[in-house]
Amino acid sequence: MSVTSLQHVGLEVPDITTGLTFYADAGLETLERDGMGVVRCQGRDQDQLRLVEGSRKKLHHVCFGTDAAGLTQIRTALEGDRVALLDAPNESPDEGIWLRDPDGIFVNIKIADAAPSEGGPEALGRPPAWNTNTPGHFDRLAKRAAPPRDIEIHPRRLGHILQFTPDVDRKIDFYTRLLGMRVADRVGDLIGFMYLPGGSDHHVVALAKSDGPGPHHASFEMANADQISLNAARMVDKGHQSHWGFGRHVIGSNFFHYMRDPWNGLVEFFSDIDYIPADCEWEAQNWPEEDSLYLWGPDLPGDFITNYETAN
Ligand SMILES: [Fe+2]
Repeated sequence: MSVTSLQHVGLEVPDITTGLTFYADAGLETLERDGMGVVRCQGRDQDQLRLVEGSRKKLHHVCFGTDAAGLTQIRTALEGDRVALLDAPNESPDEGIWLRDPDGIFVNIKIADAAPSEGGPEALGRPPAWNTNTPGHFDRLAKRAAPPRDIEIHPRRLGHILQFTPDVDRKIDFYTRLLGMRVADRVGDLIGFMYLPGGSDHHVVALAKSDGPGPHHASFEMANADQISLNAARMVDKGHQSHWGFGRHVIGSNFFHYMRDPWNGLVEFFSDIDYIPADCEWEAQNWPEEDSLYLWGPDLPGDFITNYETAN
């Protein structure tokens, strides 16, 4: 019994058009539908973000996919735990189960597969899209590595969301016991990372302790480190603010670059994240605080973990 995919994240924003311009500048596809702003990855038939009108930037909902049997089992688990099942909100009226998590954030679980996309977890076992030469080991022979300056760059998929929460343990209990997710790693009661037992990136939902709920960042996978940095440079050229990167995390191991969105929120672009396959005997570790953020990279910005949802 588990959710099997992260479908999309819903954000309240003060200005949908401003949001869509930002995400389009990041190489994402944008459109308006039924009063919402919709953000998609090129070649991937699945909404990744939905922007709904609100007075300020706020996490609205998180949507997961599962199969019919999974949906029935999750519904039974929620009812057994006396979690109220709600009507779908008018601003994002998807089918499936709607409820509020312990922080009051909408969660939607519906029957849906992860959309296939080149390089997503569903592509496990396929040859790599990018060949890298390392000392004595040449994946790329008689070919140039540097891409042309005008290469098109598009994020490949929404990988994960990191949410602020006032109670990491309470939220982990909700996601693991009722939605079937598993703990990948944690840093005491400050940070938690969760994956999907059917096989997923090291984290699909991550949690960071704060004085209230909120969206810390949504994270999009790029093909490789090169495309992360080139895309970030192009966003800076378009007037957007680089926040932190280029660097590599310890927990999850991914390369990262964080950009500020128009409301002091963050979007991460990542590659080379750890992957936990189905039925893996993964042992979660409790990491020391000094490993919680990065292995290397520029100095940590002072407001990286500021929760602007509660600070405003
Ligand atoms: Fe992340």
